[in-house]
Amino acid sequence: MLSNRIWLLFSILLSFVHNGIAGLTSSFIRSEWPSTDIPLDNEAFALPKGYNAPQQVHITQGDYDGKAVIISWVTPDEPGSSQVRYGISEGKYDFTAKGTVKNYTFHNYKSGYIHKCLVDGLEYDTKYYYEIGDHDSARKFWFQTPPRIDPDASYKFGIIGDLGQTYNSLSTLEHYKRSGGQTVLFVGDLSYADRYQYHDVGVRWDTWGRFIEQSAAYQPWIWCAGNHEIEYMPYMGEVTPFKSYLHRYPTPYPASKSSDPLWYAIRRGSAHVIVLSSYSPFVKYTPQWRWLAEELKRVDRKKTPWLIVLMHVPIYNSNEAHFMEGESMRTVFESWFVKYKVDVVFAGHVHAYERSYRISNIHYNVSSGYPYPVPDKSAPVYITVGDGGNQEGLAGRFRDPQPEYSAFREASYGHSTLEIKNRTHALYHWNRNDDGKKVATDAFMLYNQYWGTSKRRRNLRKNRLYSVIVNRPLSERL
Ligand SMILES: *[C@@H]1O[C@H](CO)[C@@H](O)[C@H](O)[C@H]1NC(C)=O
Ligand SMILES: *[C@@H]1O[C@H](CO)[C@@H](O)[C@H](O)[C@H]1NC(C)=O
Ligand SMILES: *[C@@H]1O[C@H](CO)[C@@H](O)[C@H](O)[C@H]1NC(C)=O
Ligand SMILES: [Fe+2]
Repeated sequence: MLSNRIWLLFSILLSFVHNGIAGLTSSFIRSEWPSTDIPLDNEAFALPKGYNAPQQVHITQGDYDGKAVIISWVTPDEPGSSQVRYGISEGKYDFTAKGTVKNYTFHNYKSGYIHKCLVDGLEYDTKYYYEIGDHDSARKFWFQTPPRIDPDASYKFGIIGDLGQTYNSLSTLEHYKRSGGQTVLFVGDLSYADRYQYHDVGVRWDTWGRFIEQSAAYQPWIWCAGNHEIEYMPYMGEVTPFKSYLHRYPTPYPASKSSDPLWYAIRRGSAHVIVLSSYSPFVKYTPQWRWLAEELKRVDRKKTPWLIVLMHVPIYNSNEAHFMEGESMRTVFESWFVKYKVDVVFAGHVHAYERSYRISNIHYNVSSGYPYPVPDKSAPVYITVGDGGNQEGLAGRFRDPQPEYSAFREASYGHSTLEIKNRTHALYHWNRNDDGKKVATDAFMLYNQYWGTSKRRRNLRKNRLYSVIVNRPLSERL
């Protein structure tokens, strides 16, 4: 309780000191490293030793509830084995799972052999050791399964977007690795390989896979696709959207009854995470629309209090970059987010950081109604974390004046963490990359939308920051 008060005070002070009661545009400006990709021969992309050694190892959740992982890797020289050997003590692999292998071409690039193996039937809250690859080239990793589905399960998510493969990307990844995050919610735009042409597109997907292995081989990254995954490149004869991405980054979509790897949901600890595709059809009657309608009904806040939505294009964005691009999805899904009391929507796309108050704009219907966003206690907080550090650089031009709904914005690279404590409290941080240091810049206690409720909603208009962070548990209200 005491620490809550301190957070509250801190946040209110911050808002007053800088900008009265309105939202805050951080004036912080730091010189960044050049937005150029790390050279191919850099150790960040080092090849593992040995003939046909597995590389680009990464894992993601493999089922609905966290008792399975999908392990994926690439062998460069020949298909080799798709087997995963695993167990609960180091070097002792009592179990095996058999996966599949495939390859693809992209213009004149031929991929390595891409393995995918579902390892299921795992115990909760257990450290597993695994080994992949053959003979002398075998490689060893480990991962920790999440706690069982429980409303009070504590869990720490990292949120990263628009990462790319520059020195700024490396800084973000290194900071994230030191954050204690247990699973990454990745909000789209992975490798930026589509900034290259011909053979190099595939080459840069491979370097990115080797780059993220240091984290993604040891903990799940939950994937959400962005525009840089589309790779519609007719001048090279490549017109199948998401070809590289879908070959390389599997998702557990059938487990949530989705028909497409680009949208799906998982449950992990006390969180229900819904992944949407900004670049797949989503209007009424499309498969994604129908699926989301059903998935929202499956959310059980008594089991998983925290309802988190990931998408690439932000619905609320006051940066000049990508301004209004989220409007189409907003008109389709925003009313559902309010109806189902989504806790937080994370997006990327804009290469800056921004957080909204709890607001909605669902009353206008072209012929009548109030057309502006208004404070809404049932609405999610919208957070844009498209600041992983890719080669396109920062989006430094925010619209002026700052819209009323925008609580905090800053054009710096960084990542976020959401540390769920129990069914009512989650501690949120945005961490700016700052001269090699991780600096917690925007931090507050997020109160659950189902189990907590605001006692001070009447003051919402007067002091909105207050409204985001001050809620009371349901028990106190009753
Ligand atoms: C939930 O977590 C918060 C923050 O750590 C703590 O203050 C609160 O007492 C916890 N609630 C319960 C019911 O344990
Ligand atoms: C996959 O690999 C096999 C064996 O090396 C090769 O014959 C085939 O052409 C490759 N397929 C694609 C689509 O590149
Ligand atoms: C449009 O909005 C107005 C005012 O909120 C409402 O009375 C009316 O029923 C709405 N019309 C439709 C077709 O939704
Ligand atoms: Fe993007």
